[in-house]
Amino acid sequence: MRKPKINRMVLAMCLGSFFMLIIYFHSHLKPAQDSGQTRGGRKSVRSPLQALYTTDPTELSPIQLMHQSRRDLLEDVCHSYSHKRRVLIPEDLKHLIVDDQHGLLYCYVPKVACTNWKRVLMVLTGDSQKDPLQIPANEAHVPGTLRTLSEYSTSEINQRLRTYLKFVFVREPFERLVSAYRNKFTRSYNTAFHKRYGTKIIQRHRADASPEALERGDDVSFSEFVRYLVDPGTQREEPFNEHWERVHSLCHPCLIHYNILGKYETLQQDSSYVLKLASVDDKVMFPSSAKSTRTTADMVASYFKDISSAYQKKLYNLYKMDFLLFNYSMPAYLKFT
Ligand SMILES: *[C@@H]1O[C@H](CO)[C@@H](O)[C@H](O)[C@H]1NC(C)=O
Repeated sequence: MRKPKINRMVLAMCLGSFFMLIIYFHSHLKPAQDSGQTRGGRKSVRSPLQALYTTDPTELSPIQLMHQSRRDLLEDVCHSYSHKRRVLIPEDLKHLIVDDQHGLLYCYVPKVACTNWKRVLMVLTGDSQKDPLQIPANEAHVPGTLRTLSEYSTSEINQRLRTYLKFVFVREPFERLVSAYRNKFTRSYNTAFHKRYGTKIIQRHRADASPEALERGDDVSFSEFVRYLVDPGTQREEPFNEHWERVHSLCHPCLIHYNILGKYETLQQDSSYVLKLASVDDKVMFPSSAKSTRTTADMVASYFKDISSAYQKKLYNLYKMDFLLFNYSMPAYLKFT
């Protein structure tokens, strides 16, 4: 008679941990009410989230109206495409960087100025007043340098999701993808990516690969990379690497109601706006990016010339949610339709 009881207890415990879920109320509708909250040992007058919502709705500036329409559009797309709502689990929050001193949550997306945003957040959360560009790029990416929301307890997570200003920066999906390809597969120094992904891509998607290519994985073509991405086996095996994973999957914009949807195309303007809301625009400037290695729209179009229309279509479908959620139109260079 003891055995079934134990089994039931084990089952209850498993269920208990499984349902350690995160429930938070839609803070995008209403600013947080708990003002004067102490953060980092000092009282702040007004949190960035409150700063966003204090303006009289009839007197919104053009930039406020633009952000409002970006949020509205995303909300509409979420409603028409998300079949069922689900709850967030800590695993979903690994890309959300926390700044407890200023009340900010930033979802980082690789290839969308994330190094510079991490540098800025290191300056904001660190003790030393520094120029963000003095922080070496590799230092900004060391795990553990910045805290992520997944490291907090459920109640701490909920409190932060409710009261902090949540923001993300996005980019035209194929421009981001070509930028990731160029950076990870065409630069000779990225040997870790060549070994980890390049060898696998060549083995699976190149007929008659030479032994050297199979060994080094350093000459993956863009069309081989595309075939790797659209192969259903790739994602069955493991999640995409964050450099080519969709923003939809990295940042969960239909579940986390971002207050600011920043764009790479308006990076300086949107970044300044976030820093202004956080009242730190006098302390830190968002670094202006060097345009020398920028991936341009023309460059992206030339990479797609080698891709058949069938594969273009598969690739578009793969990244479709990122196109729709962030209002990027289907690129004119695509050959299907
Ligand atoms: C969406 O994109 C179109 C075309 O680029 C633009 O005219 C429109 O203002 C955008 N809408 C939002 C909500 O950003």
